[in-house]
Amino acid sequence: MRVGILTGGGDCPGLNAVIRAAVRKGTRVHGDDIIGFLDGYQGVVDQRFMRLDVESLRGKLPIGGTILGTSRYQPFMDDDGVDRFRQGLADLGVDALIVIGGEGTLGAARDLTELGFPVVGVPKTIDNDMGGTEMTFGFQTAVQICTDAIDRLHTTAESHDRVMVVEVMGRHAGHIAVWSGIAGGATVTLIPEEPFDIDAVCEAILRRHESGRFASIVVVAEGAVPAPGTLEIAAPEVDLYGHQRLGGIGTTIGGEIERRTGYETRVTILGHIQRGGTPNAYDRVLATRYGVAAIDLVHEGRYGQMVALQADRITSIPLVEAKQLGLKTVDPQLYDVARVFFAL
Ligand code: F6P
Repeated sequence: MRVGILTGGGDCPGLNAVIRAAVRKGTRVHGDDIIGFLDGYQGVVDQRFMRLDVESLRGKLPIGGTILGTSRYQPFMDDDGVDRFRQGLADLGVDALIVIGGEGTLGAARDLTELGFPVVGVPKTIDNDMGGTEMTFGFQTAVQICTDAIDRLHTTAESHDRVMVVEVMGRHAGHIAVWSGIAGGATVTLIPEEPFDIDAVCEAILRRHESGRFASIVVVAEGAVPAPGTLEIAAPEVDLYGHQRLGGIGTTIGGEIERRTGYETRVTILGHIQRGGTPNAYDRVLATRYGVAAIDLVHEGRYGQMVALQADRITSIPLVEAKQLGLKTVDPQLYDVARVFFAL
């Protein structure tokens, strides 16, 4: 078979590990001929691609990012996008397509499947907020990067008796914030699922400082929102694809904490450092399992499915079902564990 692979949306550590695994099993076991489309769906409509074989993937397992490039483009964004997509697959003789992406990219994959295109999905996001799978690769790496950063911030915070606000990724869900907040011993962790009251945050910090000379670490997910009527925040900018550009809530919170408590406060926005660099061992293994499962789904003819992790086993669910399940938010039980350590 001739199989195409593409990566869409934001990058994430482990993408190359998925590609490598699908190529290894596809070429060595199934006898496939595999091509990688460049820059996501854009590469299909423009017919830009590279040949993928065991040699071209050598040494790529530990490399972050995606060797294929990525974009947020979807064929449905242009009037002739779907026709050009169909043409691209036909001209290049592609029998099936593996799409590695997040909610936007896999949403388009689902719609393409409904139009009859032979597509298999692989879920990807460092935010770990996709329904239908317990874990997405890249998440554990991001949590480790944030935890390492928090550990470093602790020592400088304690030396100066300062408040440190650490903003981490997490657009709709606070998985990275809760995991790194627990692992890093945060004083308070703020997540999109639980609108925060800045008064309560400041009171917690005051209480903690009053009990001794101990600095505070406040972990904030970029998508955290104040409870209605408690704090004004600027509306985020929107990029070319209508994607809100988050990042900056930490600065607002840091300013408020310093103003209201009088304690010196510093803000660190970890940003794309969380998405760059080498995947950790867990993410390499998960990505490899997903890649192998995706090429197997292709050979079983099970199009319209997304590979998934459930009860620590690799399985698959229909892309339609994954979409219906929607966002996977932080389990309140886990947030309660984090809360035990809040100075609230
Ligand atoms: O969706 C994953 C994510 O890392 C979000 O947490 C973050 O808001 C977004 O991507 C940033 O995307 P961009 O690459 O467009 O800045």
